This record gives sequence, structure tokens and C-alpha cells, in this order.
Amino acid sequence: ARPRVWVSQPLFDDIVARLDEHFRVDAAREVTAWPQAAIAARLREADGALVTLNERIGADEIADAPRLRAVANVGVGYNNLDVDALHARGIVATNTPDVLTETTADLGFALLMATARRITEGERWLRAGEWTQWSFDTLLGQDVHGSTLGILGMGRIGQGIARRGAHGFGMRVLYHNRSRLPGGIESNCRATLVDMDTLLRESDHLVLVLPYSPQTRHVIDAAALAKMKPTATLTNIARGGLVDEDALADALAAGRLASAGLDVFEGEPAVNPRLLALRNVVLTPHVGSASRATRRAMATLAVDNLIAALGRGPRAGDPPTPITGKATAKR
Ligand code: GLV
Ligand code: GLV
Repeated sequence: ARPRVWVSQPLFDDIVARLDEHFRVDAAREVTAWPQAAIAARLREADGALVTLNERIGADEIADAPRLRAVANVGVGYNNLDVDALHARGIVATNTPDVLTETTADLGFALLMATARRITEGERWLRAGEWTQWSFDTLLGQDVHGSTLGILGMGRIGQGIARRGAHGFGMRVLYHNRSRLPGGIESNCRATLVDMDTLLRESDHLVLVLPYSPQTRHVIDAAALAKMKPTATLTNIARGGLVDEDALADALAAGRLASAGLDVFEGEPAVNPRLLALRNVVLTPHVGSASRATRRAMATLAVDNLIAALGRGPRAGDPPTPITGKATAKR
């Protein structure tokens, strides 16, 4: 019999249809919030699964999934998967790096600019009918060009943001990362490695682009925020749990930080009500990679990964893009 695969959310029908050539496919017809027990029930029958960041899969969900051999994540971040638990069972886990790098860097830069120049705050004000006369000191923000850009987590997306800042906006680029980048990449990004303290103290605009793990949870906490300039902005396009949102709300409310741009939230889709109440926060609903072309490329890569990992079809010779290390040790 053909292997069975579970597709947890609607993707592009024409792309998902390629799975039909190789598998019996059980694909969600509509956006679904799967309870953990329902995920386990689907995996019980499956040889492979195509999932998104919504689905958390760990030891409990695969305990009774004897046939499961591959889990293909549609997305680059994979903190929703317990990769160690999957690997311990010999299950291949894959993600979709590279294809979303530039699109996500675009969104990061857009959010940074909206945050620095108070774009959405200005629109809310205008729509509320508050704009009665042009005045000299309305909505004064922070400059982006020529300022110091700080990047925490210098993976592919971080490098894309660095290049935009350095080449497009004449920014001085500092970064902090587990390891120093090769010299060629550093010079292409015009980026300088600094320690965490220097990054926090010197950045005019700090962007978070590092993987989330228990080790990086709340890496931006009250102590970190206290080191930042009161005129600085903070932009997070990685995972909400990197930031202590209550400490961030405290800093923003007290004027100890100018503004924040957030595409991700610790309890998303719920947003901390204290952040919602603040004027100086730009909020977007986790749309970093959300261009049509890139979402199609992500779905295509995830489908290719699943086909290759299950050893099917003409692409069976191409290796999938497996997550090789520990979830905390690779980006
Ligand atoms: C989305 O957040 C992703 O990790 O691709
Ligand atoms: C992933 O984290 C990347 O930066 O590509």
C-alpha cells in the first residue's frame, strides 16, 4: 500500500496535489487548531507529516506512531518540533531555510522603519480625525539612515537585514552571534561582531533574528532592556518568547525605550494586552515570510522534502533539507 501522509493545514492545492502521486494524503481542508491529542491521532496512522509552526510535535505525539518516518515543517524555525525526540525514533525532520530569507529580511526592515518613523501610529491618528493642521513637531521619530543597527542572531535572515542596512541606509552594523561569521560574509554585510552588552548599549535599532529555544527564552528581559538607549527601537521577527513582554511594556510605557516592532508574540495569536494598549508599538500577525512567491516556494520545498525523506518519486535521489543537530544547536 502507498504510504500515508498527513497535511495539517491548507497550503496551495496545486503544490500539495503533488503528494497524491506518491501517497495517500489526508489534508486539512480548512485552517485548524489541532489539540495535541488530535495531532497524536493523525500521526498514529501516518508515514509522514507536513506541518506548520502551529503543530507542536514531541515525544507524546509520536509515542503511538509506529509508521512515522518523516515530519516536514513548512517554515525555517522549528521550535514546534522536539527534534531530539524525533531523531531518537529515527524520524527525519526537515525545515525550509533559504527560500524565505530575503522576504523575511524585507519584513524585518519594513517593521524597523515603521517602528522608527511611527508609521502605523501616524495612520491611526490620521484615521481618527486628529490631523487638523500640519505642525512642525508631529510624530517625531528616530532616523534609520546613518544610525547603528544591531542584529542579535546573525543567520541568513540577520545577514539579509545587515546588507539592507549597510548598503541601502548607510548604517553601522553590529551583531552578536554564537560564533563569528567568516570574513567574507562580515565584509559583505559590513558587520562587526560585538559582545551582548555592547550590542544592547550601542544599537539605535536592535533586531532579533535568533532561533528560539529554552536557552534563548527571554533573552531580552528587564536587565537587557535597561542597557538599551531610551531613544532605541526593538524589532522582533523571530519568536515571541525571546522577549519578556511585560518587561518590554514597562520600558515602553516609562519611556526607557522609544518603540518596538513585533511580528511574533509569546502567546500568539493572543497578544499581551499591555502591548495592545501602548501607542509606541507596531504589531503585525507573524507575516515575515508572507509573500505569495515565498509561501509557494516554502510549500514546494516542504513537499519535496517529504517526498525525498520517504524515498519516493523522481526526487528520491535528492536529499531533503534535514534538521541535523539538536533543535537548540542549529539555525
Ligand atoms: C516562521 O516563523 C518560520 O520560522 O518560517
Ligand atoms: C534562520 O534562522 C535564518 O536566519 O535563516
